Amino acid sequence: MPRLRRLAAAVLSLAGLGLGHAAGAGEEPDLARWRPAFARPDAAPEPRANPTTPEKAALGRALFHDERLSGDGRTSCATCHQPELSFSDGVARRAGHDGEPLPRRTPPLWNLAWGLTFFWDGRAPTLEAQASGPIENPREMAGDLAAAAVRLRGDPGAIKAFEAAFPADPRISEAHVREALAAYQRTLVSPRTRFDDWVAGNEEALSAGERAGLALFVGKAGCVACHSGWRFTDEAFHDIGLPQATPDLGRGEALDLRPLDRAFKTPSLRERVWTAPYMHDGSVPTLEAAVDHYADGIVPRPTLSPDLPRGLTLSPEERAQLVAFLATLSSEDPPRPAPLPTAAATAGTEPIVAGATRIGQSGRRFAPGAVRIHAGETLTFVNDDTRTHQIRVDDPRMTYASGAQEPGDTLPLTFAEPGAFEVTCGVHPEMHLSVEVEAPPRH
Ligand code: HEC
Ligand code: HEC
Repeated sequence: MPRLRRLAAAVLSLAGLGLGHAAGAGEEPDLARWRPAFARPDAAPEPRANPTTPEKAALGRALFHDERLSGDGRTSCATCHQPELSFSDGVARRAGHDGEPLPRRTPPLWNLAWGLTFFWDGRAPTLEAQASGPIENPREMAGDLAAAAVRLRGDPGAIKAFEAAFPADPRISEAHVREALAAYQRTLVSPRTRFDDWVAGNEEALSAGERAGLALFVGKAGCVACHSGWRFTDEAFHDIGLPQATPDLGRGEALDLRPLDRAFKTPSLRERVWTAPYMHDGSVPTLEAAVDHYADGIVPRPTLSPDLPRGLTLSPEERAQLVAFLATLSSEDPPRPAPLPTAAATAGTEPIVAGATRIGQSGRRFAPGAVRIHAGETLTFVNDDTRTHQIRVDDPRMTYASGAQEPGDTLPLTFAEPGAFEVTCGVHPEMHLSVEVEAPPRH
């Protein structure tokens, strides 16, 4: 995982290079140099604690469609995450068990193996943790994971499937249900599209109009500031100024941080032709309307993301080019999951800097990205960035969450115990610092 986070950060900083270098009118920007920033990885990450095996993914797929996980025996994950709709459901906000619309739209589930947080507000840290959310939510599946596991234990087919998936310990437990569901979802990789052929070097894979849309996306329109990398998401949280009929504070509520109010996770733009309507509340009906929002629809308010373009003007032709480009990130026919890439190595590659205690945060990167210190030493986080950050350590041995760390704020954090810790940012979870804490030196 750490290596992939760093890869994501590297791609992001590559993407950053392009900003501000937008081509002037009539000038063809050098699009070719963007190819590496959008290259598909050749391997999907999987956690060491829950490797993906074909048997486990097959069990997870069966559980995903199994209505026995719900309280009334009538709802499965696939009721809302419908495979033929790219695992979304085609409506703005689906009615919950009580008949009233749920607060948020059902997101598609492509490429979540690369996800760093889950749900629109990022409140679940892993897919394993995420699964109990919908099962036990009274408005979604109104179930009880423990009771569901007990029901499955009476089914000889389920017993066999758990034996195959978990040969070392075939118990039908809540944890195994969660692990199998997560493993299945990690296999949902969106297929290659025409855009990937362009990335691979085939200039003709995109029409002139689509290439003009890409030039706008990485240039004047500034979309790539947030929709970066091959999945077209920075995995961070932004308020993009959508009008809100019913207030939903998103990441601000999840972290209890006012500057993050109305910020939601940047969605991927893969396969979006198949997943209308759009945004966390399903309030935007078409891709055309989504593009229009960035030029005409931004509601000014103090929480707007610093990465959001201000005062963007787009001609009707430019809007059409952007929409045409977005369509090249989708399959021509309703997509089926791509074959699963082989497992990625998880070893770190970031050079460890011994004794460094000042950590910069410019451009959404911790610098250095890996340090070795002694127990009792204090790291000083210097927000030399233009964005609000939140320093976090989520570890059973040490949990820490700062308040909103505004640009210019300096924050000390002391590591009292030896061990390996990971520091992340609550706003930009792709930011990642490895801290190796050694026992204090003997005197
Ligand atoms: C009643 C409809 C419904 C059912 C049933 C349902 N979901 Fe969801 N799912 C949603 C909605 C709505 C969200 C967004 C909620 C939010 O962000 O607060 C969501 C979010 C998610 C996410 C987060 C995706 C992301 O991009 O962060 C995952 C993963 C997920 N669901 C998996 C599942 C699994 C696995 C099941 C079955 C155990 C399931 N869902 C059952 C409606 C549903
Ligand atoms: C400041 C970061 C940022 C920038 C810049 C940005 N987006 Fe977004 N985009 C987001 C976030 C965050 C959302 C989800 C917002 C929500 O639901 O509240 C989103 C949603 C979308 C969606 C809907 C996807 C879905 O599945 O719901 C589309 C399409 C989209 N953006 C396209 C674009 C285009 C085109 C541009 C450039 C004109 C752009 N974005 C610029 C952050 C950004």
